[in-house]
This record gives sequence, C-alpha cells and structure tokens, in this order.
Amino acid sequence: MSEQRKTTISVIKADIGSIAGHHKVHPDTMLAASRVLAEAKRKGIIKSFYVTHVGDDLQLIMTHFKGVNSPEIHELAWNAFKEATKVAKELGLYAAGQDLLSDAFSGNIRGLGPGVAEMEFVERPAEPIIVFMADKTEPGAFNLPLYKIFADPFNTAGLVIDPRMHDGFAFEVLDVYEGRRVILKAPEELYDLLALIGTPGRYVIKRVFRKKDNEIAAVVSSERLNLIAGKYIGKDDPVMIVRAQSGFPAMGEILEPFSFPHLVAGWMRGSHHGPLMPVGLKDAKCTRFDGPPRVVALGFQVHNGELVGPTDLFDDVAFDETRRLAQQIADYLRRHGPFMPHRLGPEEMEYTTLPQVLERLKDRFEAAEEELGYKPIIRKSEELSGKQ
Ligand code: F6R
Ligand code: MG
Ligand code: MG
Repeated sequence: MSEQRKTTISVIKADIGSIAGHHKVHPDTMLAASRVLAEAKRKGIIKSFYVTHVGDDLQLIMTHFKGVNSPEIHELAWNAFKEATKVAKELGLYAAGQDLLSDAFSGNIRGLGPGVAEMEFVERPAEPIIVFMADKTEPGAFNLPLYKIFADPFNTAGLVIDPRMHDGFAFEVLDVYEGRRVILKAPEELYDLLALIGTPGRYVIKRVFRKKDNEIAAVVSSERLNLIAGKYIGKDDPVMIVRAQSGFPAMGEILEPFSFPHLVAGWMRGSHHGPLMPVGLKDAKCTRFDGPPRVVALGFQVHNGELVGPTDLFDDVAFDETRRLAQQIADYLRRHGPFMPHRLGPEEMEYTTLPQVLERLKDRFEAAEEELGYKPIIRKSEELSGKQ
C-alpha cells in the first residue's frame, strides 16, 4: 500500500419511498440496498459501507479508493437505490422511487435525483469524520453551521489558539440558480461571504478547505431536486461530511453550532420555515407537520479505508435543551398557519396554487390607484426582492 494512497468517502442519498407518508424509510429497503453494497465490498469495489436513514431518506455511506465522481461508485449507488425501489414498490410504500428521476444510469449519479457528498484525502494517522444527514430541508441549511465551524472564533476556539488553523479556511460557494461558483477566504472576506450565504436557497457552501495547505475539510451535497426536475419532486434533503481534530475543528466545535436550532426552509410540503432539530437515529423520523426538519450526526474513524463506527453524536442529553427550544419555536411558528414567514415566500415554495388563484381572479381585480395615491410601477418579481 503506497503511503500517498487516497481514501474516498462517498455519501449518497435518495428518497426511494417510505412508510406511512414521507416519514420514515422501511427497514426492508435498507436491507435491499445493503445487499447490493455487501456484494460490491466482496468484489473489492468498495472497502466498507454503512447504510442508514434519516426520515424518508435512504443513506449510503461508503469508502473506497476510486476518487470522487467515480462512475463505478455512482453506478453502484444507483443500483442499490434501484433494488431498494423494487422492494418499496412490492411493499406499496409511499412515493416509491420518488428521487430516481431517470430510468437509466449514464455515468454520473448527479443530476439524476440522489444527493451526493464526496471527499478524498490521504488519511492522517487517525482520521475522525462526521457525516451529517438532514431531512425536510435544503443544502443551504448547512451554511450557518459551516460558517460558525470554520469562520467564527466564538464557536471554534481553535481558529484563535491552534496554530494549524489560525490562517483560516476558504469557502467554495455555489450559486445553484446560475450554476457558478466562487471561493471566498475567511477571515479576510467574511463580510462578502456572509452577504452571499445569508441567502441559503441560492448560495450554498459546497466545500471548505484549510487555507494553510488547501486540505479538504468539509463537503455538502448541493443537488436541488426542484431545480433539476423543473417542478416539485421532493425536498433535496442534504448530507455533509466534515473532517475533525488535529488541525481541523474538534468534534465538539463541529457539533456546537447545532445547539442553536436555526430556521431552515423545508418542513411541510417543502414550503415552510422551521427549526433544525438535532436528533439521534432513534428520533430520525418526521412526524409533526411532517417535521420539524431533523439532522443526525454520525461520527466515524476512517482507518486504512475502513469506516470504524459509527457513534450517534446527537443522541446525547447535551442536546435536550436544543430539542426543547426547537419544539417551542415549532409551536410559535405553527401558529402563523399559512402566513409568511412561517410559509416560505412565493419563489421558494414547493407547492403553490398562486398561479391558479390569480388566473381565477384576474377578471375580478380592478384598478385601485386612487386608493394607493400613486401610480405603481409594474416590476418583475426579482426586482421586488429588496432595495437595489
Ligand atoms: C416535504 C415532504 C412532505 C410532503 C407532504 C405532502 O419534503 O416530503 O411534507 O410534501 O407530505 O406529500 P404528498 O403531496 O405526496 O401528499
Ligand atoms: Mg421525501
Ligand atoms: Mg426526505
């Protein structure tokens, strides 16, 4: 084994159907996917794997030596989802096959529906990683925690006192509407970074690198199903991989931002804001108003390409108060019913009847300029989104 051999972690997820609504993956579908991965491990295609779920999303966590975007690994994940879908259909599960937008695999799973986060690196003598998996939200939900982990010294003490991190980190930010990316450096470009990532529906942190040596520190899935499919298909519930310790933020610095249940877009019908609730695997199911949005964190050691673990990091009393606060926020928001800001703005809603309602009412709208006292300028909706 060469010392420079790189290990790849691939986390690939899809909603291929669930039990009793969009609530929870059925164990038999996890078993079907596990069989496919076990066979691939036997053949030496992957080194190790862990299959789990968060809410209605089936999660494949794999290690191998084939690099990111490997057609062989993507095809393997595709086949695992296909087999799981067969079982979902046999069982009559809800929305069986939902996220598999294509009938055929064509070399890369990205753009076909499933979400993908992958990174490769030369393993350190001990390599701790955390895999985060969220349900009922979108990739930009990780913007705020990633900012705190890699750019906020009030969260991450190491940015100030660990010489290996003191130069800071670089953030690769994707504009998911226009398909462009930009790299911004912290701390020197913090305000520019925040100006973008504070709009998490559009600007998504895709990767984080350590500035000192450009080592990969974090990667997020960035697929937005509604943008891929052109219409609402399902929520693009995101996954993220973060490396911890020895020159990266400590495990506890990485988990700390999740003690604040910040508001994310998603929840019921992908059309509401709600608090992101950190939970252990046993609570990784979306019940109340199809939520609230949940996030699970699994810790692993990666050793000679093997996944050792996991440990279920949010299954801890230290997050009880966060969960209680999240429930209080959920109660408070729910009382707004169909009103913003609980309901998302019209541009972000996954379900809407607004065009039909406007169409039906078009002949009943009458001029009301005298009521306003001015002649309004008709503006396009994007121009309505804030002062220019
Ligand atoms: C959101 C989600 C659910 C569904 C809701 C309605 O990501 O998966 O909240 O949007 O349960 O689902 P349908 O339209 O399938 O009845
Ligand atoms: Mg779903
Ligand atoms: Mg989901």
